Amino acid sequence: MAFSLGSITRRLSSALGGSGGEESVLGVDIGSASAKIVQLRASRGSAILETYGEIALGPYGKQPIGKAVKLSPEKTAEALIDLMKEANVTARTGGISIPFSSSLISVLSFPKVDQDALKRMIPIEARKYIPVPVSEVTLDWFVIPQDEGEEKSAFDRVQGPPPARQSGQEVLLVAIHNDTVNSYQTIMETAGIHVEFYEIEIFSTIRSSLSHGIAPILVVDLGAATTKMYIVERGIVRLTHLVTSGGQHMTELLARTLNWEFEKAERVKREQGLEASAAYSTDENDRIKTALLSTLGRLFSEINRVLLSYGQRYNKNVSHVVFTGGGASLPGLPEHAKSTLNAEVTIADPFARTDAPAFLGDVLRTIGPGFAVSVGLVLRKLKQA
Ligand SMILES: Nc1ncnc2c1ncn2[C@@H]1O[C@H](COP(=O)(O)OP(=O)(O)OP(=O)(O)O)[C@@H](O)[C@H]1O
Ligand SMILES: [Mg+2]
Repeated sequence: MAFSLGSITRRLSSALGGSGGEESVLGVDIGSASAKIVQLRASRGSAILETYGEIALGPYGKQPIGKAVKLSPEKTAEALIDLMKEANVTARTGGISIPFSSSLISVLSFPKVDQDALKRMIPIEARKYIPVPVSEVTLDWFVIPQDEGEEKSAFDRVQGPPPARQSGQEVLLVAIHNDTVNSYQTIMETAGIHVEFYEIEIFSTIRSSLSHGIAPILVVDLGAATTKMYIVERGIVRLTHLVTSGGQHMTELLARTLNWEFEKAERVKREQGLEASAAYSTDENDRIKTALLSTLGRLFSEINRVLLSYGQRYNKNVSHVVFTGGGASLPGLPEHAKSTLNAEVTIADPFARTDAPAFLGDVLRTIGPGFAVSVGLVLRKLKQA
């Protein structure tokens, strides 16, 4: 099954003379509108990009490309199998991301107690934050290091808690519903992929798209159904915020305004975005831009609100916003964001962390934001190697 707009694949193994050898690993990101896969191989300290691909999930649920769909595990596996075939994926092990919306991430405050006491206190305290019985979730947590000079990477966080030192301590608590994990297991088993690890998408994105700086940064993942925002400081997630609006909403509003089918609006959004095109009259170009900006404007106000509230709460200036997710590829987004947001703006370039043929540079930069999660997943595995 090939979709002109919804699936992008590249076969790189032959171009690189790669064999898809033993160390090749996969990163699988099943989003609400599309699934992405990345295959990398570790070689002499670098991550060689062997292949990657994306497939729209809409058509598997009788919906157009770009629509968010809820598919059965079987249908999702079918899409994944098609994607692997199309992208010529040879590896069969790797990591899969858990959507932020299926997880619960909170920062909890505790008095200074030792690790054993903390271990007993956390599940009890967690009940206040988790709306379902604690027995139905998988809990993970770590103590947030307080030493300003100490840098922690997103990778370190999943290794277990470092020792606490100071009077109070803060703990980052992560909970995932067991049903979610089970359903991903079914998908991956059906698709013939051995899951070596699960990771909440935020942590994958941090690994692929942020440098390990100390200053707080706001990451904005412009997905199809939702927009996820999180502030990362010293490599650690300090605040998360989910907005139930995203790229799909943008397309819907454009379709309604111009009286187009969803498919056409989706195509025009991706091709010209906020930039005027010779294919339309000045009036039409204006209406296209206004329709797209209507959704985007609300998202940007929300971003500015998050920047402001974090700044006030912690008395710190969040001076940098990094955009990821498919929506970050909207033509004209960087210019608009720079003029609207009270911060420096960057579009994520996750493939920059991989070794890929130079001729693919432009393509990878353009489609890169949508692959932030899948690239981040494989990078985790390669760092362990
Ligand atoms: N070039 C582009 N310009 C504008 N929007 C784009 C472009 N490419 C993809 N998108 C939009 O990005 C959205 C999909 O992004 P992404 O693949 O990150 O979402 P997802 O991971 O499937 O969804 P979610 O993370 O919300 O579950 C869609 O709304 C799509 O229309
Ligand atoms: Mg996503």
